[in-house]
Amino acid sequence: MWGGRFAEGPSAIMREINASIPFDKALWRQDIAASKAHVAMLGSQGIVSAEDAQAIADGLDQVAAEYEANGVPENWDLEDIHMVTESRLAELIGAPAGRLHTGRSRNDQVATDFRLWVRDAIDQVDAGLADLQRALVGRAGEHAASIMPGFTHLQTAQPVTLGHHLMAYYEMIRRDRSRFADARTRMNESPLGSAALAGTGFPLDRDATAAALGFDRPTANSLDAVSDRDFALDYLQAAAQCALHLSRLAEELILWASQPFGFVRLPDALSTGSSIMPQKKNPDAAELVRGHAGRIVGCLTALMVTMKGLPLAYSKDMQDDKPPVFEAHGLLALSIAAMTGMVSGSDFRTDRMRQAAELGYATATDLADWLVREADVPFREAHHITGAAVKLAEARGVALDALTLAELQAIDQRIDQRVFAALSVDASVAARASYGGTAPVRVREQIADAKIVLDME
Ligand code: ARG
Repeated sequence: MWGGRFAEGPSAIMREINASIPFDKALWRQDIAASKAHVAMLGSQGIVSAEDAQAIADGLDQVAAEYEANGVPENWDLEDIHMVTESRLAELIGAPAGRLHTGRSRNDQVATDFRLWVRDAIDQVDAGLADLQRALVGRAGEHAASIMPGFTHLQTAQPVTLGHHLMAYYEMIRRDRSRFADARTRMNESPLGSAALAGTGFPLDRDATAAALGFDRPTANSLDAVSDRDFALDYLQAAAQCALHLSRLAEELILWASQPFGFVRLPDALSTGSSIMPQKKNPDAAELVRGHAGRIVGCLTALMVTMKGLPLAYSKDMQDDKPPVFEAHGLLALSIAAMTGMVSGSDFRTDRMRQAAELGYATATDLADWLVREADVPFREAHHITGAAVKLAEARGVALDALTLAELQAIDQRIDQRVFAALSVDASVAARASYGGTAPVRVREQIADAKIVLDME
């Protein structure tokens, strides 16, 4: 493609280090779509003849049909998907193929193709995340009043509902979707027509190609357009953040599935056994989601470091932009699907959860709050009194509400019989009815709002 200027061909090492076709063949659909938009515009602007434009468009359809049927041939000599496609087009239609690249460079071509690919990836992730949210909301609806211990420092803190806990992940995913949507809006400008770096002298209609490819507008600066990979970084940043959320949920399911917790039985279909220990059912899918988060963060780091010192405009380093994005996307899509399966298929052991909440002095705050509310005790003093009650219950090996009234009154005179109504886990949860709180009435409101957003029911 550039042989005119060279006395000898590339060495084997040059061919190998230069070839991006092994991975950028994933862009073939976007490359054909962008070429078709470009040549249609060249035709309507009179830059190439109507017959040649038609021959090129038909030829591109034929190349696409071949790729669809047989895959993309990996010819390293042709370097990348752009040259592989153009050379096949030349084989098929002959001379007119040479006019396709008028007013275009692989620099604006790859920037355009890759944006289209990332845009599709975002749409795919968003659909997967919506499914995950539906699974979370569905399970939360079943468990709006199921009691479990809420933790801080992984120590039993206050009772919450499982529905409330699951809806916390709904919120995280809601923010993830908004980050992806934001990235999509920002990246939706067409680099096509920026050419190598400086723009072109041909009378291209950049608005027409932008519109044909579903972009909102053409990019405003050709130097920026061919050297910008913010769209890929935006995708990876949103992906990394999302992967962190999935990893936290995976970690909780792993912990909950352990025998000492026993809060959940994970679906067999997303677990594995042990080749030596017959009793084992391992949460491998959840562990891999937790592991994949590390790799996705690594992909983000890789592209950030690739881009950080590059002068304008295009440098070949930027060919390394695709593998981390492709890798991260594959890992993320699979992680989302795995978590959706685990959320919808898990058997939550609400009896064990309730028992754990009852055993951990989770309602100690309710005793202190009761003293403040009913006996006008200052909170700091109430905290101290409650601490003494917990100490006594612990020494006796019983729950807080199993202490006798006499024992409680020995700690503080102002306690009376009514306190017992406040010390049950159900009363504790029902009392936390502040906006966003764990009371079933509030959780059901959160779920109802989410169902409207997600078009459920
Ligand atoms: N294979 C290249 C890439 O993926 C295409 C752009 C090549 N441009 C160039 N000036 N060598 O980045």
